[in-house]
Parts: sequence; structure tokens; C-alpha cells
Amino acid sequence: MKRTILALAGAILIAAPLAAFAGPKHDREELVHFFSSRYPNIKFNNYVYGSMAFNPDAKAQYDSIMEFPPFTPVIEKGKKMWEKPFKNGKTFASCFPNGGKNVAGDYPMFDNKLGKVVTFEMAINQCLKKNGEPQLSYSNMKTMGVLVSYARTLSDGMKMNIKVKGPGALAAYTRGKEFFYRRRGQLNFACATCHVDNAGKRLRSQILSTVVGQATHWPVFRGGTRLFTLQRRYVGCNKQVRAVPFKPGSEVYNDLEYFESYVSNGLPMHASVFRP
Ligand code: HEC
Repeated sequence: MKRTILALAGAILIAAPLAAFAGPKHDREELVHFFSSRYPNIKFNNYVYGSMAFNPDAKAQYDSIMEFPPFTPVIEKGKKMWEKPFKNGKTFASCFPNGGKNVAGDYPMFDNKLGKVVTFEMAINQCLKKNGEPQLSYSNMKTMGVLVSYARTLSDGMKMNIKVKGPGALAAYTRGKEFFYRRRGQLNFACATCHVDNAGKRLRSQILSTVVGQATHWPVFRGGTRLFTLQRRYVGCNKQVRAVPFKPGSEVYNDLEYFESYVSNGLPMHASVFRP
């Protein structure tokens, strides 16, 4: 009996310091370490290029497309939407610190009063609501998609800066993390199977991106014209493994975005970029 108690006490002593280190910060550092050990030649900041970080030819194509992006008119349309005054004369800029510049990297953030994760798109809708305007559907690429294709560029160059503080925030982060690591669908793949274990490797014709850097550059224009928000991409990846996708803007995806964004902390943002 005495020995059991001693053994237990020993186990607790060992577990306590470990527990102190575990948590979001530890998760992120482990992932960064995992990728940098496996791919020492890829610079940390280059994770924002996704699969192109592993493919110089694709990166060269990206660079040349980004010189004169075919989707500039869409971003300009988004700028008009962002600047158009509401009926009360105010604009979106009035709802954000610094007129909306260098703020997108703080999202998603955990709102203690609401008890849930608030994405940048939700903050935009909160702004519309506050000013008596109709809200936009997150899934609508022609409205919300176009608007954020400009609004997020106001944070270009900002470093991702997601905070997980307090029990509610930690619970949301943990739900997102669990979603990321849980196997699902007929193919029984987790997000992590492709974007951690097999990141940098080829899946059919595509190279798989690392989860670190996946949240920094949204929305993207696939093929140069098709606008995708991050959560629209989640739908596509869920379908790839023949799992039933969730709705963009659902709490499940918001928590997932919270986790994915946190592990991209420290990386520079650049919205509205080309993707193959
Ligand atoms: C069967 C493998 C597979 C699984 C599982 C998978 N994805 Fe993907 N994902 C891909 C491929 C292929 C691409 C396109 C190449 C790339 O950018 O990685 C992609 C792209 C992405 C991108 C866009 C990266 C960028 O910079 O354009 C994100 C974000 C993403 N996946 C998130 C997820 C999440 C979250 C999950 C789990 C819900 C998931 N994926 C599950 C294969 C997968």
C-alpha cells in the first residue's frame, strides 16, 4: 500500500512539470520543430507558401502571377464594399482598432462574454449588426468573400498573433486541435495525416502543405479566379476523404480555424494570393 502511494506520488511529481509545459505553446513549438527537422532547408517564413514551399517551379509561377494578379478587380470591388458608408454614415473602419489595419492577425479570438471563438468574418457581421445593416453569409463568396479579399489585405505583413487565454479559450482551442487530429471519412484520414505526417510529400499530383502557415493568406484565388475562404477550403478537404463537411461559419470550423491560426503564430500575413 505504502509503496503504491509512493509510486503514485512519484508519478505525480514527474507529471506535474510536464503538464506545465503542455498546451498551445508547446503544441506549436513541437510542430515547428517537427517540420524544421524534417525539412531543414525550408525557412520558417516560407511555410506561408503552402505546398509551393516544396516546389520551386510552382513558387516561380506564383511569383510571376503575383506581379499582375488576374484577381485585382475582385479586390478593388472588395475595397468599394469596405469603404461604402452604412445608412448611418459610418463605415467598417469605425468598428475596428486602427481603422481595420493590422487587426486580422488577432483573429480568430476567443470572446469570453459570448463564450465562443469569433472569426474576422464574424467581427465583420457584428459590425454590420451594430450599425443596423443586414449581415453577410460566410459561405457567400460574392459578398463576404469579396469583402474580406480586400479587408484582410489591410493586415498584410502583420504577424499572426492568436491568443489562447483562460479556460474557455483553451477548451475551444482543444476542440479545434482534436478535430484536426481525429480520423474521419471513408478514407479514415485526419487533417494531420496529410498536413503533418505527409506534409511535403506528394499526394497524386499535389504536394501537401504543412499545417504551420495554413492560416496566413486567406482568401486565395485558385487557378487565379476562384475565390476560396479558409473555411471553404476546409469543406473541400473534408470532402476529399469522403467525410461529411460542416458549414463554413459553424462552431466546429471556427474552433478548427482557431487551432490552425494559433500554430501559424509568428508568420507574416498576406491575403488574397494565388493558389494552383
Ligand atoms: C487526403 C489528404 C488531405 C486531408 C486528410 C486534408 N487535406 Fe487539406 N489539402 C490537401 C491537398 C492535396 C491540398 C492542396 C495542396 C496543399 O496546399 O496542401 C490541401 C490544402 C489545404 C489547405 C490550403 C493550403 C493553402 O495554403 O492553400 C488547407 C488550409 C487545408 N488543406 C486544411 C485541411 C484541414 C483543416 C483538414 C482536415 C479537416 C485537411 N486539410 C485534410 C489534402 C488533404
